[in-house]
Amino acid sequence: MRDADAIFVNTCAIREHAEEKVHSQLGRYDLIKKEKPDTIIGVLGCMAQSLKHDLLENRPFVDIILGPDSYRKLPRLLSRKKEIHNSLVDTTLSRFEVYDDLFPSRKEGVNAWISIMRGCDKFCTFCIVPFTRGRERSRNMESIITEATQAVEDGFTEITLLGQNVNSYFYDGHEFHHLLETVAHVKGLKRIRYTSPHPQDMTDDLLKTMLTRENICNYVHLPLQSGSDRILKRMNRTYSRDHFIQLAHRIREILPGVGISTDIIVGFPGETEYEFSDTLTVMEEVKFDSAFNFKYSPRPGTKASEYDDPIPEDIKQQRLEKIIDLQKRHTLERNLDLVGTIQTVLIEKESKMSSHQWAGRTDSNKWVIFDKEDVQIKDMVSIQIKKAKGITLHGEMLKQAEAA
Ligand code: 5AD
Ligand code: SF4
Repeated sequence: MRDADAIFVNTCAIREHAEEKVHSQLGRYDLIKKEKPDTIIGVLGCMAQSLKHDLLENRPFVDIILGPDSYRKLPRLLSRKKEIHNSLVDTTLSRFEVYDDLFPSRKEGVNAWISIMRGCDKFCTFCIVPFTRGRERSRNMESIITEATQAVEDGFTEITLLGQNVNSYFYDGHEFHHLLETVAHVKGLKRIRYTSPHPQDMTDDLLKTMLTRENICNYVHLPLQSGSDRILKRMNRTYSRDHFIQLAHRIREILPGVGISTDIIVGFPGETEYEFSDTLTVMEEVKFDSAFNFKYSPRPGTKASEYDDPIPEDIKQQRLEKIIDLQKRHTLERNLDLVGTIQTVLIEKESKMSSHQWAGRTDSNKWVIFDKEDVQIKDMVSIQIKKAKGITLHGEMLKQAEAA
């Protein structure tokens, strides 16, 4: 770090405690700047807007502050900075910027993440994204295909299409399922995933495209947030509990063996014990394969942060523990169903537990651990599932003839 000419902190505002992390990192960079005053220090991304005044006042050593739609200015600002002594700031959001022509420089790996749209117009009342990332806009389909083709040529095996609201993608008459279908035709691409969709934009067309194209993974992330109709309304989630349950059943009906994960928030302002139990009953009904669980925390500037009926921290914690426990049971139940089956696994890395084992994912997004044989990272192999433990599956690799 001390050898760097410029150090950038790239920020995201969606998670709690992100601001504290930025401040502690900046504390370290301040020391570097004191030793080497020519080092340029920058704060980039979503938090640039909300942190701007604080940084200008309290962290005068920060040279550049750029919002998520201003990255193109970076080269110019870097060369100008040598002559200018004040901080350079641009946090304006754009209605158009999608960085269409700027492809990330990818070195090597299994999974390439490709951003297909930016921003969000849904305005869930708890969420900061519509404010930090601005209005929804989609990338040109051709440029996405060029980037995907390039990633495959560079040796990537799996592509994840990325967006704050990925399935509301719309460009020049092309909807998300059109894009997915076109990406699925990229030669040599073994697997495609996408995240994060909104239940409102989950269409039958999309599910049918997933069914017909073998390389589109049999996995859907379907954020529930809450199982209570009143809380869903207060969150501005635009679907009801019944609609969500029906949608989950429909997904399982059209896509047998699909993995469904979710996001759940507990302790949203005003959530009663009864309303919290509505979330538990949706979980029972759907039996998600996995879940990302959050305690509600207010994000300044959002509508929910003005609600004046907060839930005490200890109750939030209790509710969080309850859903974590329930989800653990459901994950195990779903995973036990796979014991004895043969799954196609893409090898992604060495197992953390043992250097003699590989770790890879099924297309339904479950991690599988198995003994290393004569196969390598990025190979697709057939694994017979022998055991489900915690959130992981354990299996044995089948030889070519056995797999056939
Ligand atoms: N408090 C708690 N969780 C939140 N999320 C987004 N904003 C908040 C918040 N203010 C969660 C949602 C979303 C996931 C990415 O983060 O569940 O789906
Ligand atoms: Fe945030 Fe997702 Fe809601 Fe958009 S759809 S406001 S990104 S939670």
